[in-house]
Amino acid sequence: AAPYPFYGEHQAGIVTPAQDRLHFVAFDVTTGERAELVELLQEWTAAAARLTQGREAGSFGAVGGAPEAAPDDTGEALGLPASGLTLTVGFGTSLFDGRFGLSGKRPAAMSDLPKFPGEQLIPEISGGDLCVQACAHDPQVAVHAIRNLARIGFGKVSVRWSQLGFGRTSSTSRAQATPRNLMGFKDGTNNLKLEDADLLREQLWAGAGDGSPWMTGGSYLVTRKIRMTIETWDRTSLAEQEQIFGRDKGVGAPLGRKAEFDPLDFAAKGPDGEPYIRADAHVRLAHPTSHGNAHLLRRGYNFVDGSDGLGRLDAGLFFIAYQRDPRRQFVPVQMSLARKDPLNEYIKHVSSGLFACPPGVRDAGDYWGRTLF
Ligand code: HEM
Repeated sequence: AAPYPFYGEHQAGIVTPAQDRLHFVAFDVTTGERAELVELLQEWTAAAARLTQGREAGSFGAVGGAPEAAPDDTGEALGLPASGLTLTVGFGTSLFDGRFGLSGKRPAAMSDLPKFPGEQLIPEISGGDLCVQACAHDPQVAVHAIRNLARIGFGKVSVRWSQLGFGRTSSTSRAQATPRNLMGFKDGTNNLKLEDADLLREQLWAGAGDGSPWMTGGSYLVTRKIRMTIETWDRTSLAEQEQIFGRDKGVGAPLGRKAEFDPLDFAAKGPDGEPYIRADAHVRLAHPTSHGNAHLLRRGYNFVDGSDGLGRLDAGLFFIAYQRDPRRQFVPVQMSLARKDPLNEYIKHVSSGLFACPPGVRDAGDYWGRTLF
C-alpha cells in the first residue's frame, strides 16, 4: 500500500483509517528556551515527513554516516515499508503555562478537564507538554518512529510516559470492518467516520471562528488509559454484558434489532414491556442525542501491559478521542458515563491527557506548530 501523505490541511492519523498498532508518547519539554522548542519542532517535522514515507529519520540514515558519529537513524526499521505510519503531534495544556510565552494562546476549548467521579489518575502517566501518536500496521515501525523522535529531542525533551496498543478498537472509515475491544464487543460501530464530511467539519475540526485562529484545521485530543478488570468481566453473564452496552455481542446489533448498523431505537420495548436498550446502557448514555448532538471520533487501542503481579492481566482500552471542543463533547459524555454507566464496575480510568493537535503541515517549508509560534 502507498504511504499516507504527510502534508495536508489536517494532520494525518485522525481520520486516517485506524491502523492496527499504536505507540503513543507524551514528552516533557526540558529546555526553557522557546527558540530551542521551535527548532525541535522543525527537526521533528522533517524527520516525520521522511519516516511516514518509509524513509530513515535523517539523510545519512542508519549506516550512511561517518563511522565516528552516532547514526541519524536507529536502524530497526531498515528494509521495512512505511506500513501505513502516521505521526500526529499535540500540545498539552502545560505547554501554555508561561515558560514559552504561550499563555495567551491557550485555547478556551482546552480548559482543564474536571475531576470525574471514580477516576484514579496516576500523575506520572498523565498529561505532558507534547504528545506524538504513532500509528502503523507494524509495531516495529511505530516504535522506531517514536524512538527516533525521542533521540532527536535529546536535551530538549524527555519522555514522560508512553503507551503501546494493538488491535485498533475503532473503525474510522466505512471501508473498515468494526474491530473488537478486550471485552469482546465490536467497538466503533457508531463512530465519526472519514466519509461523514459534514459532521467532520461541524464536530471534528477547529474552525477559524472558534477563538483560537492558530488551531484552524486542528483538533483536540483526549486520551484516557482505562484499565479493565477482565477477570470479573469474564465471569459476568452474556445477557448482562449485552445489557451493559445495549448491543449484542455477536454481530453488534442494537438489542432488539438484527444487524450491526440498524439504527438505535431507544423507545422500542421488548415482550416484557421494558426498553430493549436500558436507560443506563453505554450506547444510550454516550449517544449524541443525550448530549445536544455531541459526537466524538474514537480511535482507541487495546493494551495488555503484561500482568500485575496479582495474577491479573494489566489490560484495557487506551481511549483516544478527537473533537472540536472537549467542553461540549468529551466532558459531558464522560461525566454522564462516570456517574451512571454500569460498565464502571469493570473499568478504572488511570491516566488522562488533553492535547491541542494543530493543523496539518502544508509543505516542506512549514512545520508542526508554526501557526502557534
Ligand atoms: C460506543 C465500549 C469507553 C464513548 C461503544 C460501544 C462499545 C463501547 C462496545 C458500541 C459500539 C459503537 O458504537 O462503537 C467501550 C468500552 C469502554 C468505553 C469497553 C471503556 C473501557 C468510552 C468512553 C467514552 C465512550 C470513555 C467517552 C467519554 C462512546 C460513544 C459511543 C460508544 C460516543 C457511540 C454511542 C452511539 O452513538 O451509539 N463503546 N467504551 N466510550 N462509546 Fe464507548
